[in-house]
Amino acid sequence: MPPRLFAELSDYIQKTAGIRMPPEKRIMLQARLQKRMRKLGHQSYDSYVRYVFSPEGTRLELQSMIDAVTTNKTDFFREPYHFDYLGEQGLPALVRGFGPRLRFWSAPCSKGHEVYTLAMVLAEYAQRQRGFDFEILGSDLSAFAIEVARRAVYPEREIEPVPMPLRRKYLMRSKDADEQLVRIVPELRHHTRYKHMNFMDEQYSVGEKFHVIFCRNMLIYFDQPTQEKVVNRLARHLHPGGLLLTGHAESLARIHTPFVALEPTIYQLPE
Ligand SMILES: C[S@@+](CC[C@H](N)C(=O)[O-])C[C@H]1O[C@@H](n2cnc3c(N)ncnc32)[C@H](O)[C@@H]1O
Repeated sequence: MPPRLFAELSDYIQKTAGIRMPPEKRIMLQARLQKRMRKLGHQSYDSYVRYVFSPEGTRLELQSMIDAVTTNKTDFFREPYHFDYLGEQGLPALVRGFGPRLRFWSAPCSKGHEVYTLAMVLAEYAQRQRGFDFEILGSDLSAFAIEVARRAVYPEREIEPVPMPLRRKYLMRSKDADEQLVRIVPELRHHTRYKHMNFMDEQYSVGEKFHVIFCRNMLIYFDQPTQEKVVNRLARHLHPGGLLLTGHAESLARIHTPFVALEPTIYQLPE
């Protein structure tokens, strides 16, 4: 890809999605776009990028290009420390403070692994705590990832981190054994909903406030001013006393936000 074109595209991606694209990401970007180019029959990056920004391309291809540049890597029970923390201390404290009906937001949710991990942990908690009920919203910029999350069907190899007793309760095997697929049970899916969303937008169109927001492994792709804006916007959608959880490589230490750190990567919005 010619440097001029890379500069134009990386500038667009950073402005639209917040995702930093320094020159060392050029090879990665090329590889990801090549798949789309081949599919649509474009011979050069120039021709593909011109198409994406044409009126027709904006309508038909822009979202697929955005999907291609987002990194959707995720896992069930990824960074399990947060789930242990919620089960042991977080949920009892939140229920004492807010009552037994809690709202959670996975922002960003990628392909839903974080949402369903949380749903399993919360469903287990509901069995110990009478009256406990929960709702989880998942949001992401990648329309493809949201689609996978809504479908809630995963290859069996991805469920390896799910403890066996939870697999038995919350995952259904495909009737066709050759397919090696599992689906999240409806009892968990009923607690979840999804909304396609860009956290670069000034306003997030979500209704009621949340008690816990998971914002894990997205801020690392943003520069500091963008991190600060996004975290402060998320804070508007959290109840005072609610929690914000970040990925283990992410910290709010160098940005201005109202949050206080309870533990590394676990933050509370002051009352
Ligand atoms: C690496 S995944 C993290 C998923 C999950 N939270 C986890 O920790 O496993 C990062 C996600 O951030 C999403 N993302 C990146 N920029 C975004 C933006 N501006 N608005 C919404 N989602 C965004 C990507 O589409 C991707 O699915």
